[in-house]
Amino acid sequence: RPSVVAVPDLDAVVDIIRRARRICVLTGAGISVSSGIPDFRSSGGVYSLVGDRYPDLPTPEAIFDLNYFRTNPGPFFAFASEMFPGMTKYHPTPTHYFIRLLQDHGQLERNYAQNIDGLELEAGITKLVQCHGSFATATCQLCARKYQADDIREAVMAHIIPRCECDPENSVIKPDIIFFSESLPSTFDDAINQDSDHIDAMIVIGTSLQVSPVSLVPSLLPRGVPRILINRELVSTATFDAEILGDCDKVIVELCRRLGWLDKLKALCAA
Ligand code: OAD
Repeated sequence: RPSVVAVPDLDAVVDIIRRARRICVLTGAGISVSSGIPDFRSSGGVYSLVGDRYPDLPTPEAIFDLNYFRTNPGPFFAFASEMFPGMTKYHPTPTHYFIRLLQDHGQLERNYAQNIDGLELEAGITKLVQCHGSFATATCQLCARKYQADDIREAVMAHIIPRCECDPENSVIKPDIIFFSESLPSTFDDAINQDSDHIDAMIVIGTSLQVSPVSLVPSLLPRGVPRILINRELVSTATFDAEILGDCDKVIVELCRRLGWLDKLKALCAA
């Protein structure tokens, strides 16, 4: 196991970031927590909330299960109404803007984002793969007709299940969020194929790395590529060269201070 960088040795991490020209950042729900969106698996997270609110769910994860969705899409759409693009009351966090700064400095190869809250786009991150899909498009589960977010926004926000003209009784238009049994978007495989052999460093932030195939991404990189974890807790599904445990925004602010980027970070956060 590579030696773990102790927190007081943040300068070693700063050095890796300063030298790297092509950085991949892999993010999860933890980076949006300070914006007010709970993560999934912490206590008080989405899975404990839906478990309490919908005791009939076989498991909390069933809100992202296609078979359950076909019988009862209600819990998923209640969740969707909180995150729907254009309606969200949430805003990007300092961690999102740190990724944007890496992009502005020409150092971001890719942000592999598992989140479906769209805050990466709001922060101006364009070198982005939305690994678990997004609300931007939606698909009728009966006839496969494609819809845009605008087409179903009104229904979702009014807590009405969006239906397709093909069968207004039985159809359901499902936002193109990746459910557990579904394949990831082809953009994920394309990006991995392009990135895996020429990345200088990987930074993993705010994820428990429990959902594959995204959890496998750190292990797809060649040996010797430094892997840095910034998270509240240790993650057992991958090995890291540096594990910085704590609140990601606080860690990011300290990293930016040492990188000399604090003013730029503050300006982005204030804009
Ligand atoms: P999890 O809830 O599994 O993990 C979030 C991680 O972030 C945990 O390890 C927390 O300790 C950590 N964390 C929380 N707040 C933090 C903070 N302020 N600073 C640093 N770390 C913090 O969420 P994900 O790993 O993103 O699928 O979950 C992966 C996928 O599982 C999600 O994309 C979702 C879910 O099923 C879909 O939405 C389709």
